[in-house]
Amino acid sequence: MDPVRNPYAPGAGQRPPELTGRDRELRQFEVVLERVAHGRPERSMILTGLRGVGKTVLLNTFRSMAIQRLWGTGKIEARPDQSIRRPVASALHMAVRELAPRHRAPDRIEGFLGVLKAFAQAETEPVKGKAAPRRWNPGIDVPAARGRADSGDLEIDLTELFVDAASVATDLGVGIALFVDEMQDIPADDVSALCAACHELSQSGGPLIVVGAGLPHLPAVLSASKSYSERLFRYARIDRLDRSAADLALLAPAEREGVTFTPDALDALYQAADGYPYFVQAYGKVAWDIAPESPISADDIKVAAPEAEGELAVGFFGSRYERATPAERDYMRAMASLGDDPVPTSTVAEELGRKPSSLSPARDGLIKKGLIYSAERGLVAFTVPHFGHFLRSQPV
Ligand SMILES: Nc1ncnc2c1ncn2[C@@H]1O[C@H](COP(=O)(O)OP(=O)(O)OP(=O)(O)O)[C@@H](O)[C@H]1O
Ligand SMILES: [Mg+2]
Repeated sequence: MDPVRNPYAPGAGQRPPELTGRDRELRQFEVVLERVAHGRPERSMILTGLRGVGKTVLLNTFRSMAIQRLWGTGKIEARPDQSIRRPVASALHMAVRELAPRHRAPDRIEGFLGVLKAFAQAETEPVKGKAAPRRWNPGIDVPAARGRADSGDLEIDLTELFVDAASVATDLGVGIALFVDEMQDIPADDVSALCAACHELSQSGGPLIVVGAGLPHLPAVLSASKSYSERLFRYARIDRLDRSAADLALLAPAEREGVTFTPDALDALYQAADGYPYFVQAYGKVAWDIAPESPISADDIKVAAPEAEGELAVGFFGSRYERATPAERDYMRAMASLGDDPVPTSTVAEELGRKPSSLSPARDGLIKKGLIYSAERGLVAFTVPHFGHFLRSQPV
């Protein structure tokens, strides 16, 4: 069928043509926004899940919901070894810029921007590998206001900055939402500072929330950092789509183009994609291009499947596999040979005929690269769905 009209959207963070199976999370977030805007105590939300289940897409949808309510919003994508100070400064700058045109008192905005600039420039940690300029110029054209949010201690500074940002939003009867993607990658000290700032803010009732998304071990990362984080955030585990949501994700966009699927085709697609949103989009896209006419049939899927698998092998699995060092690849192959459930690290070591301690660098490297996660103490699992299957199908 006409590839130009192909509605499907496989790709990191790509908005799907139909967001299905997330009604519960959307409703929950609506409640969070309403409550926070009314100064009611409310826990913020954290989305967790495997690669490609739709965390980024849902986070972006949450952001649109906040914008619709005229909130100020900003987003960061955390990176290992990178302090969140500058990204948070940029994101809050963006959020307050969204509010500024509606604010009656320009000096309040200017006052906040002065604090924000001082916060941004108070970076004390040297940036790894580079001689960072001593003063970062965040592109804020008001003078930095000294004495607030600029102590250099991120916990204190974030707390003061959040309180001030929240108070600007309070003037307008709205809130501010800071979205953090890949939250598990925030360096340990910064995560602790961020939790502490959220904790402070939740006590003062200021209308600012931090909404995060990350891999399944993110709750463990947060509670290792601050024991109260479990009470601070509401965790929503994002998972594969059930059969009806997966069907709808395929059917609704097709039907808008006057195209449909036979029931057999939908059976075959669900079997292949296993309800994982990325796979649903990937198989849907190839099936559309290959099918000569509507309805798309089970035979079309038979032809499409190897091609879709080939594309996933390169784009979804291969690109990640290539990020691993040879030792890390051996580690993952050993994991894959042990099946698809989380495996004890000691069993992986046995499989490789090595001492567990000698494998720590490979395991830690893979966790840092976001390829595996520690499901529970002593257990590891792939963050990428079907990764074990992919590895087992590769020639050694
Ligand atoms: N609810 C949904 N219904 C249909 N398709 C979806 C849904 N959520 C996400 N997708 C599709 O799944 C793919 C992956 O989405 P996204 O990048 O948000 O996943 P992710 O969880 O952030 O992955 P990663 O951990 O790799 O960052 C995209 O192609 C997107 O269009
Ligand atoms: Mg993502």
